[in-house]
Amino acid sequence: MLAATPPMGWNTWNTIGRNIDAQLILETAQAMVTSGLAAAGYEYVVIDDVWEGPDRVDGRLVAAADRFPGGIKQLADQIHELGLKLGIYSSAGTLTCEGELASYGHEETDAATFAEWEVDLLKYDYCHVPAGADGPALYRRMGQALRATGREIVFSMCEWGTNRPWEWGASVGAHMWRTTGDIFDRWDSIVDIGFRRQIGLEAYAGPGRWNDPDMLVVGMYGSGNVGRGGCSDVEYRTHFTHWCLLAAPLMIGCDVRSMNAATAEILLNGEAIAVNQDPLGAQARFVGEQEHADTVSQVWAKPLADGSVAVGLCNLGEQGRTVSVGFETLGIHPDRSCMVRDLWAHEDVGTMAGSYAVGLEPHASALVRVTPR
Ligand code: GLA
Repeated sequence: MLAATPPMGWNTWNTIGRNIDAQLILETAQAMVTSGLAAAGYEYVVIDDVWEGPDRVDGRLVAAADRFPGGIKQLADQIHELGLKLGIYSSAGTLTCEGELASYGHEETDAATFAEWEVDLLKYDYCHVPAGADGPALYRRMGQALRATGREIVFSMCEWGTNRPWEWGASVGAHMWRTTGDIFDRWDSIVDIGFRRQIGLEAYAGPGRWNDPDMLVVGMYGSGNVGRGGCSDVEYRTHFTHWCLLAAPLMIGCDVRSMNAATAEILLNGEAIAVNQDPLGAQARFVGEQEHADTVSQVWAKPLADGSVAVGLCNLGEQGRTVSVGFETLGIHPDRSCMVRDLWAHEDVGTMAGSYAVGLEPHASALVRVTPR
């Protein structure tokens, strides 16, 4: 099955925005290999908007010749030689969000072109759709066109949650769908998208069908295209923890050619990635929140294939506090004690009866694995 676990990779948009070229994308792909990201599972190198040339040639999209002199096929070959996969971008409208040529009315030709280039993923946006167009029908059209190519291409819908895509995305052939507007490199954006607007969506996720709360901003520190102030390492760790629990596609957005040690430690946490990539494919459910004077702390729980539960305890507030989870709220019989493993400290905390509590600094999260004994 394609996208049996949430797709992982890197996308040009967050850091580089419009200024993309083949060289930079290849350098990034090489850095993904040398840094260990590729071995950790990040495999899709996704070209976002502004790769397109100004005109169709024989009815077909072509890459901007100055920035992609060898075309997309050559880049795909180079990426494949590194053991990685290539993603590309278009829109269901007449133009992309940045005003480049897009696929409305050209779905079959464009899907065939992408397949010929040996592209492995298509991110399909929603800008410039004609007034009155039926969004789901436009996505169905591209979904069918992709399937007709016979190539395995992950179909990544980006209509920002406009038409409740979680309800119909899988039925039009999509493997993942954005649930909200764009993420920004700010704490309040992470909280709004991750901790507020994913509640209840777990029913729609599973192998081959993922809710996408947008790309990671881990390691951007306010730089790049979606900068907006940046976050601390503690906040990036909470962001990553939560996206792992949400079974979200893990698309890195920072410049991995220059990522620092703190960023690498977050993105390469194999125990957190294993939660994200767990074969059961469950998305964490919102267990509940504790109210405090300033804000709340939240608990989320993701069932895992071996019968254990990954739990996120998140202090969304401005003061340090203790956050706790009762095992009964995880569906575990109250008489059973549980082994708790801290997936950031990489150690077993011990066997607990009834509940687990942890002290958390502002905006920090704990990620633990709770295994009934
Ligand atoms: C939209 C999408 C972004 C990005 C840009 C590119 O805003 O939501 O993720 O692809 O378009 O123009």
